[in-house]
Amino acid sequence: MIELQGIQKYFNRGEPHEVHALRNINLQIAHGEFVTVIGSNGAGKSTILNIIAGVYAPDDGKVEIDGRDVTRLPEYRRAAFVGRVFQNPLDGTAGSMTVEQNLALALRRGERRGLQRGVGRQRRNQFREALASLGLGLEDRLDARVRLLSGGQRQALTLLMATLRRPDVLLLDEHTAALDPGAAAKVAELTATIVERDRLTTLMVTHNMQQALALGTRTLMMHQGQIILDISGPERRNLTVQDLIARFAAVRKDKEVIADDELLLTGATSENQHPPTT
Ligand SMILES: Nc1ncnc2c1ncn2[C@@H]1O[C@H](COP(=O)(O)OP(=O)(O)O)[C@@H](O)[C@H]1O
Ligand SMILES: [Mg+2]
Repeated sequence: MIELQGIQKYFNRGEPHEVHALRNINLQIAHGEFVTVIGSNGAGKSTILNIIAGVYAPDDGKVEIDGRDVTRLPEYRRAAFVGRVFQNPLDGTAGSMTVEQNLALALRRGERRGLQRGVGRQRRNQFREALASLGLGLEDRLDARVRLLSGGQRQALTLLMATLRRPDVLLLDEHTAALDPGAAAKVAELTATIVERDRLTTLMVTHNMQQALALGTRTLMMHQGQIILDISGPERRNLTVQDLIARFAAVRKDKEVIADDELLLTGATSENQHPPTT
């Protein structure tokens, strides 16, 4: 369960280039809910994730995770129960370390102990099993340096690392956007499988409206620091990308916000229409 109450976030406050990135965000996400987030560039999507992860403290408002007030809890202390995957496959893994070493690090994330020497056989089998579930053949590459993997393999490994300890919250920030269509479809599919299997409370930002509707159980649309649409249940089930664009246009007209065609253009891209390949 995630609860955001009255979240305000400014960048460069009081300066000429002040940005009001989040404007009074109120949001409750139930345990196990899988929420997709769409919206134009600069809408505040990444900032919401960063507020939940503790990268920034809000200027006002409260952040609760599973009933615990974490508003002032620093990022490194939230790492034990918040898993993250970013857009760039290079961000989530250490390229000069092996697959196994990366997984061992992920297992100890948020703990105070330092690097252990070596990995026991039991742990090795656990890693091998988890890697096999990805269906990418990585279970035979435990000793390979991660920089030798493809972008898709590396992002799948990052996803595995982020979910290895069953985090209370999983945050995905356009984690398929930098991959080729086949790899993007594969990572999207793995995401759905892992999130559903482990019932992870998940927020996934995507530029792809098709993906936003195909994955998860609820979709938020953000614009200029606000959540302007929040759709779930039967209302969402039959929604098409065209409907979503129309809804966005209608809300935007209501709010008399500045025209921004960027979102409409990205509605045309649909990486998960391609058949999955590795
Ligand atoms: N670290 C930062 N410093 C200054 N401005 C920032 C910073 N991070 C984000 N912003 C600004 O805040 C707004 C929201 O950004 P962001 O949450 O990254 O948008 P999105 O992820 O929806 O594209 C944008 O105007 C962006 O330029
Ligand atoms: Mg972003």
